[in-house]
Amino acid sequence: MPSRVKFWITLTLGTFSLVYGQAASQSYRWQNVKIGGGGGFVPGIVFNPSEKGLAYARTDIGGAYKLNADDTWTPLLDFADDSRWNYWGVDALATDPVQPNRLYLATGLYTNSWDPSNGHILISSDYGKTFDAAPLPFKLGGNMPGRGMGERLVVDPNLNSILYFGARSGNGLWKSTNSGRSWSKVTSFTDTGSFVPDPSDSTGLNSDKIGIAWVTIDKASGSSGSATPRIFVGVANKGSNSIYISTNGGSSWSAVAGQPTSFLPHKGVLSPSERALYITYSDGGGPYDGTSGAVYKYSIDTGAWTDITPVSGSDLFFGFGGLALDTQKNGTVMVAALNSWWPDGQIFRSTNGGASWTPLWDWAVYPTLNKYYSYNAALAPWIGPNIVDVTPGNLQIGWMMESLSIDPFDSNHWLYGTGETIYGSRDLLKWDSAHNVTIKSLADGVEETSVQALISPPSGPPLVSAIGDVGGFVHQSLTRAPSAQFTNPKWSTSADIDFAGNNPSNVVRIGTGDSTSGKQVAISSDYGVTWNQHFGAPDNVQGGKVAISADADTILWRTNGNGVMVSRNQATFSTVSSLPSDAAIASDKKTNNIFYGASGKTFYVSTDNGKTFSAHGSLGSATSVFDIAVHPSVSGDIWASTDKGLFHSTDSGATFSAISGITQAWGVALGAPKSTGGYPAVFVAANYGGEVAYFRSDDRGVNWVKINDAAHGFGAASANCMAADPRVYGRVYIGTNGRGIFYGDVAGSAPPPTSSATSTTSVSTTTTRSTTTTRSTTTTTSSGNGSPVSGFGQCGGQGWTGGTTCVTGFQCVAQNPFYSQCIPI
Ligand SMILES: *[C@@H]1O[C@H](CO)[C@@H](O)[C@H](O)[C@H]1NC(C)=O
Ligand SMILES: *[C@@H]1O[C@H](CO)[C@@H](O)[C@H](O)[C@H]1NC(C)=O
Repeated sequence: MPSRVKFWITLTLGTFSLVYGQAASQSYRWQNVKIGGGGGFVPGIVFNPSEKGLAYARTDIGGAYKLNADDTWTPLLDFADDSRWNYWGVDALATDPVQPNRLYLATGLYTNSWDPSNGHILISSDYGKTFDAAPLPFKLGGNMPGRGMGERLVVDPNLNSILYFGARSGNGLWKSTNSGRSWSKVTSFTDTGSFVPDPSDSTGLNSDKIGIAWVTIDKASGSSGSATPRIFVGVANKGSNSIYISTNGGSSWSAVAGQPTSFLPHKGVLSPSERALYITYSDGGGPYDGTSGAVYKYSIDTGAWTDITPVSGSDLFFGFGGLALDTQKNGTVMVAALNSWWPDGQIFRSTNGGASWTPLWDWAVYPTLNKYYSYNAALAPWIGPNIVDVTPGNLQIGWMMESLSIDPFDSNHWLYGTGETIYGSRDLLKWDSAHNVTIKSLADGVEETSVQALISPPSGPPLVSAIGDVGGFVHQSLTRAPSAQFTNPKWSTSADIDFAGNNPSNVVRIGTGDSTSGKQVAISSDYGVTWNQHFGAPDNVQGGKVAISADADTILWRTNGNGVMVSRNQATFSTVSSLPSDAAIASDKKTNNIFYGASGKTFYVSTDNGKTFSAHGSLGSATSVFDIAVHPSVSGDIWASTDKGLFHSTDSGATFSAISGITQAWGVALGAPKSTGGYPAVFVAANYGGEVAYFRSDDRGVNWVKINDAAHGFGAASANCMAADPRVYGRVYIGTNGRGIFYGDVAGSAPPPTSSATSTTSVSTTTTRSTTTTRSTTTTTSSGNGSPVSGFGQCGGQGWTGGTTCVTGFQCVAQNPFYSQCIPI
């Protein structure tokens, strides 16, 4: 390993230069679809000690955020594109106490093979608006065990050109003397940490050393302009010394005498007024584990260690994570149970240096809790539960509570991170006066979900999502947080979702690995607002991909590890042996009996409701298929994205043409056409002309415009899913792995086409349909058959043969060429 990092790269943000052969850009407006409340783990929240109101939060898979004065958060790492996707794992964060405009992020997702890249220290001198990247000669683990310990990265408060960084994987302690630009190993510090969460984990995720946990510098031991002499370092060791001190600016180190050695030190926070170091300990690395722990206080002057653990005996069934001091109130300290899984998480507060504590709740008479708080999830109503009972799993205060901070300028303002959100309030002093504070979800602007699949049906809500850890949502609005998660069944992760082309209110979703329900298929007839379990699904089979037939009677399921299955009319699923177990699948959106599949370079078609598939055309030299997109109104018009390009067929997959210029493609989606009745706009995440980005074509793949920009990279293209809006031309949804859902709308004019639409691709067979439907929003009164359609039912659209009048109180409104709906008058 080199002892010194030589490379220094500068990221130029906000500019984009066109290279020959690449697509021209069209400007787009990108925003998050608001889920609200975060939706994922927030391992670190750090206030700047010198500038009022300045604070940052870091996440494990979705980058970092800056706090705004109105309690909202602004994302900082949205520029991370396919080549820099590991920037979204933020393993540590430091805000400069001397020059508060300076911000440092230690980025990298995994030290095992999942992440091929080494870590970086991202350096900003404008509060995170732009960054330079200093590469490190080793990997970081922003989404690995121990990611809530910290902070591992600190700025010397007396000489801010000096930074320390505690590495994982046995790489030890590192130091920079030039504001993070280059780093060298602190060779005098020899304990690189022995603790490994699970040595037997063959993936490498849990078998790597957590390493150095935190670095804490005692400003009062030095003076401004010189390197601070006294430095404490916490190391992930259990059963041996874990806390070290240097009194000479890191030249030499010794284990602090008399320290406890039973547990891992998660946080080490100095109280300058008390001249004490507070430490929270847990017996696990976190963030999920821990069944015991302690809180200690070390006196710098006397060397005494005091056990100030708030609970003991059978009440001590968790470790401690979050640790906050009120720097304006000598002796006021708070600690969080890292994981108290039942009946709820727990936080303790002391105003006398830990001599005594009060909890956020305690037992009244079982099963009733005295809750010394009022709960407010107005900004994310789906976060729950709003009514806390003591049912296991119904945690309200939170879990994975590693970050806990009190605003150094406002004793009332506190924030803490959980496995799901950021909570806090601006009335913390009421804890001391009335022993009753507000617990409010304050993660507005933080969108850190891992999105598995998206649908944008032609009627009903604009978007329905399948999401990791928080299930998924019906997005009635793109700008308002949903009121509820998917329920009944409620799985933590929904793996995929699809709607029926001719009856789009009929939706199917599948779940992944959730023990609360053995059956992992659910169906809805109201766009996902309510669900029923599919009782024909086998127990303990999960994940993969799902497709529902055009008329909604058949569900094709390519499971995760149990092959392909199909069920018609809610019958028991039966095996489909003629489709490979790794196939991408899709349903035809118009013809009920047709399903598609693709594996390797072979495209498969079933015309018997998914019972049997036969090989049709070939997808060039593809070895893996990512996605299949199907025309919303023309049977047999299909797009397939592969590792060797993007392919289009208009003859049900008998023949495909390769799209010129695209060498690799991931998400592909068809949306509203540019002009009524035209061919759908095609969206793709692809390598086009050597550039991995997001593109749209309005002419069946002849001309492409790039639609994302230097400020919106969306992370790893291969981890993202996509849907296009069939009702709004140009609108596309991108589901990311860690930064929630984005939607993009056309914001500038399109560049002129460079290729003639007739000269390149050989899309030949289907004659262009003449479209007679208009985008009228008036009442359709044409003579329909059958009785009036009930409220919100379909009442028209191309190919529709059902009723075209609505029951009293509703009118039939054309939503798009393919769908008219009975809407309240
Ligand atoms: C803080 O409290 C300690 C006792 O815990 C006391 O010795 C010390 O003088 C106090 N410091 C200040 C600045 O009030
Ligand atoms: C704290 O205040 C809330 C809101 O007023 C109230 O519902 C709750 O019962 C109070 N807690 C206790 C223990 O009195």
